[in-house]
Amino acid sequence: MLAAFLLPATAAEASGPLRTHAEARGKFIGAALATSPLANETSYRNIAATEFNQITAENAMKWDATEPSQNQFNFSGADAIVNFATQNNQQVHGHTLVWHSQTPGWVQGLGATAMRSAMQNHISQVVGRYASNAAVVSWDVVNEVFDDNGNMRTSFWYNTLGQSYIADAFRAARAADSNARLCINDYNVEGINAKSTAMYNLVSSLRQQGVPVDCVGFQGHLAIQYGFPSDLQQNLQRFAALGVQVRITELDVRMQMPRDATKDATQATYYRNVVNACLAVSACAGVTIWGFTDKYSWVPDTFSGQGAALIYNESYQQKPSYTAVHDALAGGSTTDTTPPTTPGTPASSGVTSNSAALTWTASTDSGGSGLAGYNVYREQGTTDTQLGQSTTNSITLTGLSPSTQYQVYVRARDGAGNLSGNSALATFTTTSGPGGGGCTAVGTVQNQWNNGYVVQPVTVTNTGTAAITGWTVTFTLPAGQTLAGSWNAALTVSGQTVTARNAGHNGNLAPNGGTTFGFQVSRPSGNTQTVSGYTCA
Ligand code: XIL
Repeated sequence: MLAAFLLPATAAEASGPLRTHAEARGKFIGAALATSPLANETSYRNIAATEFNQITAENAMKWDATEPSQNQFNFSGADAIVNFATQNNQQVHGHTLVWHSQTPGWVQGLGATAMRSAMQNHISQVVGRYASNAAVVSWDVVNEVFDDNGNMRTSFWYNTLGQSYIADAFRAARAADSNARLCINDYNVEGINAKSTAMYNLVSSLRQQGVPVDCVGFQGHLAIQYGFPSDLQQNLQRFAALGVQVRITELDVRMQMPRDATKDATQATYYRNVVNACLAVSACAGVTIWGFTDKYSWVPDTFSGQGAALIYNESYQQKPSYTAVHDALAGGSTTDTTPPTTPGTPASSGVTSNSAALTWTASTDSGGSGLAGYNVYREQGTTDTQLGQSTTNSITLTGLSPSTQYQVYVRARDGAGNLSGNSALATFTTTSGPGGGGCTAVGTVQNQWNNGYVVQPVTVTNTGTAAITGWTVTFTLPAGQTLAGSWNAALTVSGQTVTARNAGHNGNLAPNGGTTFGFQVSRPSGNTQTVSGYTCA
């Protein structure tokens, strides 16, 4: 599909602030604001007022700020944010009512009955204060209720009240403001993975029960070293189909420091892709950036050695990421039809009986939509088959046949779906080894983050000449990594070896027929390895 990727229509239009273009597209572009620079720094205030039409309080509306002791409410910071927004004709998203973090100890120590009433009272007081304020239009009612694997987070909320605290919180918020848009918010749910699927199932079931969940927030704390969640738009769309509004609530794109021009360019592509995904989904209300200047960002304090995640530098100068957001929002009517440059010749290494690693010189993209990744193909006479996809300039091909010569090439693709020319060929021959039976399995890492990743799809192909009625794929988890979930296959683990057997519906494969399954892995922070050694029988 050729995405509707748009470029600035005229130079004059391109010169306006972000909010002007966002308004023209029917979206908001927002920033999280901190109260101290808002009170003390003119540059901070001016940019916040001029560029954005939506504001989230970075900390001032959290429980530890608004109700530090029971029933002693303090709205000084929250009011400062709301007043600023009112003065500048901006909408406020209230963040956040019920969270496991930044919540005072007195709440965490309560018994079930007292905790439920404290939660209801807090929601009633905080939401109630702004219920008739025109600037405050939406709330994160619950934040981060899932753990990284998509199970319910075992927070003090869950441990004391069980899962029912979520529905109760939404009902209390609706009772306090009948008009506010009520959201559930989380991180690592940008792509389609076990956690976002758990979120999808929860939102679907809450709405079926009549619980007033109006909106889903995708935080969007991205990092250039972990790859872009290329199915973001598809994921937003599946939530939209549940009837909820979607929004990107806390966008930042961090990098390993020091900053350089190449990292800035990659970061700009991520920002552009997020804005374009929201523009492409009509149920997406807008994008909030988690701050705007690198002078004030939670990233260096939270992710060791990383930073420069925002769209202005420490001196309030616009970065390439600003231009990317700007140009995406200012999009006129020109579609990106310029393909990326042709990648360098792939070099093979680590060739085994069923796998091989390839690296190549990266492509660049000048058409506006940005480099999205690479497809790797095998040349086999008339039809070339795609062996894998990568968001970086390297890949480990798996599920190869033993004692077989492979001639492969790479094509780059951009955010609008344009494909580059074919790279020159790399030729290698797999070693002889234990046979792979009459089928092959090829896994693609779809999305990864600091302590986990999703392999989707694992493509299982019947390479034999007869139909098969079942298949078994094995692969190896690197030491220290554990399986966190799977779909479309039954997985068992023994030591570090995982055995995946077909599900009921996808065991029958005709000759050359195929199917897919997927799984998610948890790994220790700092471990960047992914599974290897797929075999199929
Ligand atoms: C962060 C703030 O940016 C920091 O200033 C604070 O010290 C910790 O919280 N997910 C959320 C936000 O929902 O509230 C968090 O904000 C970042 C992660």
